[in-house]
Amino acid sequence: MMDYENLLSIAKERRSCRRFKPDSIPDDYVKKIIDMARWAPSGANSQPWEFIVVKKKDLRQKISQFVKDFISIYYKLEHTREPALRFPSLTGPVDKIGYEDAPVFIILCGDRRTIEAYPRYTAAEISEEILESSLANAFLYMQLAAGVLGLGSQWVSAVRMWYVQCLIRDLLGIPDEFVIYDMFVVGYPASKPKPRMVRNREEMVHEDFFDKDKLRSNAEIKEFISALRKGRTYSEMGSKRSSQIDS
Ligand SMILES: Cc1cc2nc3c(=O)[nH]c(=O)nc-3n(C[C@H](O)[C@H](O)[C@H](O)COP(=O)(O)O)c2cc1C
Repeated sequence: MMDYENLLSIAKERRSCRRFKPDSIPDDYVKKIIDMARWAPSGANSQPWEFIVVKKKDLRQKISQFVKDFISIYYKLEHTREPALRFPSLTGPVDKIGYEDAPVFIILCGDRRTIEAYPRYTAAEISEEILESSLANAFLYMQLAAGVLGLGSQWVSAVRMWYVQCLIRDLLGIPDEFVIYDMFVVGYPASKPKPRMVRNREEMVHEDFFDKDKLRSNAEIKEFISALRKGRTYSEMGSKRSSQIDS
């Protein structure tokens, strides 16, 4: 059972970091992170991944600027939602993004041509989902590796937005056959992550059949999201559902 406990503590310690020290990290750590990703499961073992390791400061600054420009327009969308559900970090234009100082950005790309490896029925219907799931696995493995190396990492999805993606493709010369999945930002953490809310196992497990008593209402889902935004537990919000704060 010791192995399980070790694995669980690695999973618990893997946290998103959103502020980084500018200090560089050893190249060996970058190699180790990517080595780990190579072992991730992928659809039909297609291994669609390519890793663009961006260390040059001017390139990192340009990428950060593309994201800031994007947010400076699109933050307005957050204002179309009810206040409790808004993303606190996206309620206005941003001058500085937390990861701007991080020393390494890794753009994870996927080669769409590897879809050929899948059985025909999946290739016809769910190929994009399988490609994406495979890339997500690689990404998660990278996060786990960074965590045990004492580094912080952030999962940045904004690079996939069409505007940002086109600019990054042009900047880094990414061929059309490749999708940009997400950007893995890594460095030494400049702050400790806040405790996180984790749903309890009992409320999400269904024995043999879907237990309708556990079906969350629309209001409860909203309450849950609102609690997440505030970093609170359900019970602090007076809900009958349970959750735990984990740090
Ligand atoms: C598919 C996916 C996309 C994500 N995109 C972002 C992102 O764009 N920016 C960000 O800061 N975190 C992003 N995250 C990280 C989640 O917000 C984070 O994992 C979650 O809040 C739990 O916090 P933790 O990672 O510290 O446990 C993403 C995570 C996943 C799985």
